[in-house]
Amino acid sequence: MTNSWKKYILWFAQEHLDFRVAEFNSIVKLFGLKHRKLNKNLLKPFWIVEFVNDEAAHQFASRSVTLRCIYELWSHSDTYKNFHEKLRSHIGTSGNVLEPFTKCSFKIVVETYNKHISQKEKVEKIETLDYLPFQGEVDLKTPEEEWCYIEFYGLDPMAVPKEPEDILFGRLIAKGQRELIKELSLKKRKFIGNTSMDAQLSLLMANQALVKKFDLVLDPFVGTGSLLVSAAKFGGYVFGSDIDFMMLHGRSRPSRITQKTREKDERVRSNLEQYGCGARYMDVIISDFSQPLWRDGLKFDSIITDRKIDGNS
Ligand SMILES: C[S@@+](CC[C@H](N)C(=O)[O-])C[C@H]1O[C@@H](n2cnc3c(N)ncnc32)[C@H](O)[C@@H]1O
Repeated sequence: MTNSWKKYILWFAQEHLDFRVAEFNSIVKLFGLKHRKLNKNLLKPFWIVEFVNDEAAHQFASRSVTLRCIYELWSHSDTYKNFHEKLRSHIGTSGNVLEPFTKCSFKIVVETYNKHISQKEKVEKIETLDYLPFQGEVDLKTPEEEWCYIEFYGLDPMAVPKEPEDILFGRLIAKGQRELIKELSLKKRKFIGNTSMDAQLSLLMANQALVKKFDLVLDPFVGTGSLLVSAAKFGGYVFGSDIDFMMLHGRSRPSRITQKTREKDERVRSNLEQYGCGARYMDVIISDFSQPLWRDGLKFDSIITDRKIDGNS
């Protein structure tokens, strides 16, 4: 059976680069998404990927924390001339597809990666697209549709080329889960310790563990439960264990310099409740991982942890 492929621009945040490909591969595996990566250089923040439909693109965006946005690709080239020819041709050949968008309120975002340009220059870039058949109102705050015009000037701030390496244009399909990183920030977390795992890395690990709704997830070195928070956010039922009695009972020294004593309700359960996941908290127990305590045949859907498991654990 042949698939009809559709091209998308995936715009990734340029951080935790080592996790980008791993997270992508995990999410496509989790949802069973058929795809083709068209980029050679996966370090670029803009990938062109083919999925079979918008639903697949939405599914991908619903889990990715490295993704900023995903756009339906309308044109891509390495020269302005060719870029505009392709965009005109896309408009010319996709009349029916474009029809629903021509009357919508809209905005066009301009991104010049690795090159700062003024607001005036951004407007001039938008004016080069004056042949677009958009007749709706421009609405910068709550547009019905959003497009992005991107010029990519490489990754080296010390060697910015005169002309962009890539020029891309696309329609916003979905935003990634960057907001979740802010929501789970350790700065505002109820219970943290000196080794609490950063929110973004915890979410990346939960993605790599392919955590999904109703999964049973274990962290055997749970500490303050950062990995359980992320796993529960993705729908897992979470369980933890740790050797440190004082930590699990919230009696260890507070790690915030402004705090002298721990509050009574500082514990892993409170963290889950803080983020609306209290119902998916199973329990945490005191246990030395080197002394197996699980009955035979017990199965977890995934085990995620940030303690290296070696002979000394
Ligand atoms: C890096 S910390 C985990 C931090 C945790 N992910 C968090 O976000 O708070 C490692 C944890 O492993 C626990 N640990 C060390 N040796 C252990 C063992 N043998 N069995 C169980 N837990 C152990 C420590 O008490 C510590 O809480």
